[in-house]
Amino acid sequence: MPKLNENYQNLKESYLFVEIAHRVAKYAEANPDKKIIRLGIGDVTLPLEPLAVAGLHEGVDAMTSTETFKGYGPEQGYDFLRQAVVDYYAENGISIQADDVFISDGAKSDTGNIGDLFAKDNIVLIPDPVYPVYVDTNVMTGREIIYIDANAENNFLPMPDKHVHADLIYICSPNNPTGAAYNKEQLKAWVDYALENDAVIFYDSAYEAFITDPELPRSIFAVEGAKKCAIEFCSLSKTAGFTGTRCGYTVVPQELVFKASNGEEMSVNAMWKRRQTTKFNGTSYIVQKGAAAIFTKEGMAQCRENIAYYQKNAKTISDVLSKKGIRFFGGKNSPYIWFECPKGMDSWDFFDYLLNNAQVVGTPGAGFGKNGQNFFRLTSFGTHESTKEAMERFEKLF
Ligand SMILES: Cc1ncc(COP(=O)(O)O)c(C=O)c1O
Repeated sequence: MPKLNENYQNLKESYLFVEIAHRVAKYAEANPDKKIIRLGIGDVTLPLEPLAVAGLHEGVDAMTSTETFKGYGPEQGYDFLRQAVVDYYAENGISIQADDVFISDGAKSDTGNIGDLFAKDNIVLIPDPVYPVYVDTNVMTGREIIYIDANAENNFLPMPDKHVHADLIYICSPNNPTGAAYNKEQLKAWVDYALENDAVIFYDSAYEAFITDPELPRSIFAVEGAKKCAIEFCSLSKTAGFTGTRCGYTVVPQELVFKASNGEEMSVNAMWKRRQTTKFNGTSYIVQKGAAAIFTKEGMAQCRENIAYYQKNAKTISDVLSKKGIRFFGGKNSPYIWFECPKGMDSWDFFDYLLNNAQVVGTPGAGFGKNGQNFFRLTSFGTHESTKEAMERFEKLF
């Protein structure tokens, strides 16, 4: 009989979205005449940008003739796309090398797989509330996790505690679910902490394209010293609407080198390359052509149009919360708006209250960790019309 990875028994049931679907279905069945508006989704709704579509078509066309056909490609991505990512960073004043960039099928895979490079007996530091992938993948490996509290007192931007040691640190900024984003000085404190502790930061910047404040860093590599202690994960899912198309990229600087127990230096970049070439056969050429098209000046302008559409929704939501004096976070540099449940309600009670009285669906904060107990997440990924209507109904309630 095979011995199973029994760490899977330690995973908490991921029932958040199942429970939401169940409650919404039950309500809809009992109230067939009511129009339900969903502002809980963390998925984009606008179609792909025309240039992304043209790039995808070009990729497909290449497959139709022997001269241009593509079979297996480089596992770490085609040079044209790796270079496009380098140029994108350069536009933000950050210098990285094409060999630092690994193209993938998205940030979920890479944030989930990065643990392959690190031993089981590392101490992992994860903020609470959090994107659940960081927790679950470390539970699967059986690592010890320590949590840091993100709460209203620290504006959902917890800072390192120099009395606590960690080896692997997860940071997501702008954050899912809280929408909070670190400034450069705060990120520097994390980089300093990582360097002092010989730790590595896994920096998830999946929502960087939503940053509007020019003072906020779009990459951890804006901080000096970060290349010696950080890996950055990014995704075209929210930048370009690629949630279904699938493409992301991970930057593993060649400067990221740690000593093995036998005293030999090991390059994390070389390890990740080995991991990817062994276990991953690359993102499809067609998708990479679509991705390259959005990294052009015109392609990015089209992405920004879509992002601006969502940002308008974020403003519609934030304006009502401000008007009602409800404390909220995010919304400005993020598609997520995270607010304190009114009337001291707990997040599942508030979920029911909002569904029953306004037919609006959001996401209870408790689903992201204990610090989300009294908070609620709305997203800006709906249509203008539905967001406006949802917030008009919301406004009447409080
Ligand atoms: C913080 C964060 N990281 C990563 C992802 C997943 O990104 P991808 O679609 O590239 O796998 C998400 C998706 O919701 C996310 O919220």
